[in-house]
Amino acid sequence: MVKHTATSVVTIDRFIIEEERNHPEATGELSGVLYDLALAAKMIANKVRSAGLADILGATENENVQGEVQQKLDIMANEIIVKAMDHGGRLCAMASEEEPGIIQIPEAFKCGKYCLLFDPLDGSSNIDVNVPVGTIFSVVRKITRGRHGELEDMLQPGRRQVAAGYVIYGSSTMMVYTTGQGAHGFTLDPSIGEFLLSHPNIRIPENGRYLSVNDSYEQLWDDKVRSVMRRYKGLEGDRSPLSRRYVGSLVADFHRNLLGGGIFAYPANRKTPKGKLRLLYEANPLAFIVEQAGGMACDGAQRVLDVQPTELHQRTPLYIGSKTDVELAQRVLSGQPELVVA
Ligand code: AHG
Ligand code: MN
Ligand code: MN
Repeated sequence: MVKHTATSVVTIDRFIIEEERNHPEATGELSGVLYDLALAAKMIANKVRSAGLADILGATENENVQGEVQQKLDIMANEIIVKAMDHGGRLCAMASEEEPGIIQIPEAFKCGKYCLLFDPLDGSSNIDVNVPVGTIFSVVRKITRGRHGELEDMLQPGRRQVAAGYVIYGSSTMMVYTTGQGAHGFTLDPSIGEFLLSHPNIRIPENGRYLSVNDSYEQLWDDKVRSVMRRYKGLEGDRSPLSRRYVGSLVADFHRNLLGGGIFAYPANRKTPKGKLRLLYEANPLAFIVEQAGGMACDGAQRVLDVQPTELHQRTPLYIGSKTDVELAQRVLSGQPELVVA
């Protein structure tokens, strides 16, 4: 791996090529997927930045498969990604939070050996109030025979991902991704339209600073979840309290904790007994990133990346971030005895 100094100007394209060189067997197809995703991210960033000026704020009349009202930008971001990715010849199918079934590659285009799963716009309820939103993506290798991707290709446990990442459309636009060789962050320089390496080899602090959880569901949590939250707040056990930060966009809450240290929790509750967040294109990609940065992600019972999916849009409880904080949740929620600190 080439050692970059603070002054070197490293575009995401150059970084992808250098990473590819570490895999002599690489064909360049995965690199192509990442290039195309970076292009789609720039196009979505452009739309998000000007949403308040063009008539693309607000909601449509339709609901997605999740039963959620689709924001205009949800649909626009979805179309941008599908159109940017469907003709490159590297994918055999896609799956999106905004579409009920698998998105097949049109007959006119070549099929490749990868599947892309994505949340085109995360945190979309925040668009109209100018709070950061994001895009989340996951790439797995096709495991079925034949030309086109199938549901079985999509329903692989997260540990089988070959790449994952997110884009955060915040005070600056950043793309963070991993191919299993560390997690790396790139900041978009709008003056030249390039993502430049700004956060090589991100490492999440071992001990968290922030707790990100929506407390308004407290009455709906079970006693174990309540106990975990009380420990994070220093109301129970011997931990010092974490600072509370909750934006309501998973990508924004996750990114702050990835850089500053902390835990994001979206527990199961009586209203959403399986959790709210989607396993395949929200929890899995962020779990791959956080593990590559030295953190952890569990669903309360097991490591997120080991969950065997059974449905495309299945939901999961999520506890993700700094190791010590996630371990605490895992211990309490699985009923393990307290660790006695010597
Ligand atoms: P999406 O906009 O893709 O549907 O995701 C919204 C998710 C996630 O971004 C965020 O963490 C969570 O919804 C917030 O849920 P609550 O409003 O229930 O806290
Ligand atoms: Mn989302
Ligand atoms: Mn979404």
